[in-house]
Amino acid sequence: MTFHSKNAITFYKEFTRQESIPESGIKRVVELLESGRLHRYNTAVGEVSDVALLEKEYADYVGVRYCVGLSSCGSAIYVALKSVGVLPGDKVLCNSFTLAPVPGAIENAGALPVFLEITDGYLTDLNDLEYKAAHSGAKYLLLSHMRGHIVDMDIVTDICNRYGIILIEDSAHTMGCRWDGKFTGTFGKVGCFSTQTYKHINSGEGGLLVTDDDDIIAKAILYSGSYMLYHQHISKPPSEVFERHKKLIPNSSLRMSNLVAALIRPQLVALDQQCLRWNERYNLLEVELEDVPHIFIPKRPEKEGYVGSSFQFSLTDTDLVSTELFVKTCTERGVVIKWFGNKEPIGYTSTWESWEYIKEYQPLPNTRKVLDFMCDFRISLTFSLEDCKTIAAIIRQVAVEIFP
Ligand SMILES: Cc1ncc(COP(=O)(O)O)c(C=O)c1O
Repeated sequence: MTFHSKNAITFYKEFTRQESIPESGIKRVVELLESGRLHRYNTAVGEVSDVALLEKEYADYVGVRYCVGLSSCGSAIYVALKSVGVLPGDKVLCNSFTLAPVPGAIENAGALPVFLEITDGYLTDLNDLEYKAAHSGAKYLLLSHMRGHIVDMDIVTDICNRYGIILIEDSAHTMGCRWDGKFTGTFGKVGCFSTQTYKHINSGEGGLLVTDDDDIIAKAILYSGSYMLYHQHISKPPSEVFERHKKLIPNSSLRMSNLVAALIRPQLVALDQQCLRWNERYNLLEVELEDVPHIFIPKRPEKEGYVGSSFQFSLTDTDLVSTELFVKTCTERGVVIKWFGNKEPIGYTSTWESWEYIKEYQPLPNTRKVLDFMCDFRISLTFSLEDCKTIAAIIRQVAVEIFP
C-alpha cells in the first residue's frame, strides 16, 4: 500500500549527491597521476609522500602523537583490534546499533562481539555496559559513535578504567566532533576514522587510525603493510619500537594510496567549516520538526559537540505497519529515509539480527524496539537551507496524513 495525496510536496535532489572535491585536491591528484608515484612508499629522493604528510596533519588536528592511513575505517578497526592485543576467541563489547563493517572487523580478528543495548536516544546503554563489563569477561570495548551520537564519554572512560577494559573508538561518523571539547577518537587507546564517500571527508574509501601509544602505532603501521619501509613515515615512534615488532607482525596490505591522501588533505583544512554548515542544516531541521505530532527527537547532551551530517527521529504511539508506510511514503516523495526496522538487510542498512555468522544470537529487546520506530536520513551539503525546509515540510505532511 502507498499513500496518495493530491497536494503532496515532493523533493527532487539526490540524497547520495556529494560536493565536488576541492580544486587543489583535483590538481594534486593530476600531478600524482602524471608522476606515476601513487604508492605511498614510491617517493623521489628527499620527498615525503602525501599519505605521510596527511598522517602528521591528522594527528596534529585531533591532538594525538600518531596516525596511520589505511584503506578504510573497517581496516583501521581490524588493525586497532590486532594492535591492542585482541586474540582469537576474545570477547569485544560493541554497539548493537552500528554498521556491518564493525562486527566484520571483530570477526576478522577472530574475536566475538558482545552487543550492548541502546537507549531511546540512540546511545549505548551505560547500565548495560556496566553490567556486561562486570559479567561478560570482555576486556575490550569497541564503541561506535553511531550516526554521530556521542554517549557520555566521562562515564564510558570511568567504566573502562574500573574494569580494566581497553577502549577503541569507532569514530567513522564523528570526524570533527567533540565530547566536552575533546575530539572523539582520543578518549581510548585507539581512534578509527572513515573517509568513505558519505563521511565528513570524502575520498571514496579511506581510514585513519590514531593513538598516543608507541607500541600500538608501530604494530598498526606494520599491520597496515609497511614492509620494512616504516622509516618513511613521519608520524612514527623511534626505530627501536619497530625493532621489537617488525618480525612478529604480519603485513596485512591495507595501505592508503597517495591519491586518497591527496583528496583528503584539502578537505581536512576545510573540515571545521563544513561541520558548521552541517549543523546549520541539522539545527534547522530540528526546529522545523520538533512540534510534529508522533515525532520524537531526542535532546542531545550539553557536552556533545556533534556534527549533524545525518538526522534521526523516532515515531511514537504507532505500529510497525504505519511506520513502514511512513518510511515508504516519505521516500516516494523524495525524502529517502533509512529504516532499521526492516526484517531483511537492505543496502547499507542491517542489524545485529542479520549477522548470522555470529553463532550465538543475543536478544536485545530495547534496541529492537528503538530501531523499529527510528527514522534516519542523510544530510547532504548539496542541500540548501531551503531544501532542508522542504524536507521537513514533507515529513510533517506525511506524518499528518498517516497519523491523523
Ligand atoms: C559506524 C561505522 N563504523 C565503521 C564503518 C566502516 O567504515 P569504512 O566504510 O570506511 O570501512 C562504517 C561504514 O560506513 C560505519 O558506518
